[in-house]
Amino acid sequence: MADELKRGLEGVLVAESDLSYVDGEVGKLVYRGYDIEDLARGASYEEVLYLLWHGSLPTADELDAFAADLAAERDVDDDVIETVRALADAGERPMAALRTATSMLSAYDPESDESDEEATLRQGRRITAKIPTVLAAFERVRQGEEPVAPDPDLSHAGNFLYMLAGTEPDAVSEETFDMALTLHADHGLNASTFTAMVIGSTMADVYSGVTGGIGALSGPLHGGANQDVMEVLHEIDASSKDPVQWVKDTREDGGRIPGFGHRVYKVKDPRAKILEEKLRDLAESSGDTKWLDYTTAIEEYLTDQGLVEKGIAPNVDFYSGSVYDSLGIPVDMYTPIFAMSRAGGWIAHVAEYQADNRLIRPRARYTGPEDAEFVPLDER
Ligand code: ACO
Repeated sequence: MADELKRGLEGVLVAESDLSYVDGEVGKLVYRGYDIEDLARGASYEEVLYLLWHGSLPTADELDAFAADLAAERDVDDDVIETVRALADAGERPMAALRTATSMLSAYDPESDESDEEATLRQGRRITAKIPTVLAAFERVRQGEEPVAPDPDLSHAGNFLYMLAGTEPDAVSEETFDMALTLHADHGLNASTFTAMVIGSTMADVYSGVTGGIGALSGPLHGGANQDVMEVLHEIDASSKDPVQWVKDTREDGGRIPGFGHRVYKVKDPRAKILEEKLRDLAESSGDTKWLDYTTAIEEYLTDQGLVEKGIAPNVDFYSGSVYDSLGIPVDMYTPIFAMSRAGGWIAHVAEYQADNRLIRPRARYTGPEDAEFVPLDER
């Protein structure tokens, strides 16, 4: 029905895409047909980027060349780093700083005004390579430290952790972070990807699409939830409150439990399952099971309360924060890290959509007054 109103575009099909598929009823996610679990456990983030951008998994030679090209683009112009310093000094929030810096990066891209598919992917490669440099520099400056230059010999995941800490990460940290990047790389037409696509559908450049995607992802109903989850866990810890009591109090006050519920998943998010397992491994090897204990208690309680059965189950954000915490990453960097990974998906969707573009332009049902009589300003 042409005039049927679908609030929040729920369930509305607006495009065809080969990129990723989410089956919310059974909790399945695939990128170009490959199960997320296989990719998370068996492929690096660089392989996943190649898959999303070029349509197939790379051979070893293709991957080497692709990863080298990506690593070669990590340096960021000094002007951008100076802006990042100014933003950090002004106390800007990390997602807002990332939004500003990503937009600024286009000034230093020699082909930022080109929007054919190949140019979009080259610009996308530069954006994807430079976002970690920008984020790590922002965090270092905030901590009163100098930014660390990227190391082209390290992987995408390893280099980010290196630029953040100033020392090379151990193998488990690098592998864990790489897995988290893979898990967040794409997810159908979520709010931020759709935002990037809407912008791309005007044939605007991919910098605009990614900048818009960052803005959409920053909200607490979307990417901001991973930070909220960790803040709750810290709050529970600081107040020595029983996690279940915190949940009861929050629900009594009509609040939502961050990290639970999803527009598409009606069962536990498959990414949450993988991250939960990772958290369990990390907790067992470090002997520090605090976050695992709290999250398990909350999930068990909400399961007993029938929430999970009603489809309000743990989403990816419920476990990602605890995993990042174990890597020593500050809480307000969690959503920017989500953006760092999802940029790969935004770029893939913009390139795919623009290849067979149709301007996205829905309608609203008008509910305002009709025939209002205009009164000139000096007579009002
Ligand atoms: N805690 C408690 N109740 C919840 C939660 C939650 N986290 N999520 C949904 N509900 C309840 C709602 O109160 C509502 O109940 P009602 O029908 O009695 O009013 C019902 O479930 C349906 O909720 P909607 O808001 O209609 O569902 P929607 O599909 O719009 O929401 C959303 C999805 C926004 C993610 C929601 O579940 C939420 O706010 N979750 C918490 C924030 C969060 O974790 N966001 C991350 C999502 S994943 C991601 O973006 C990476």
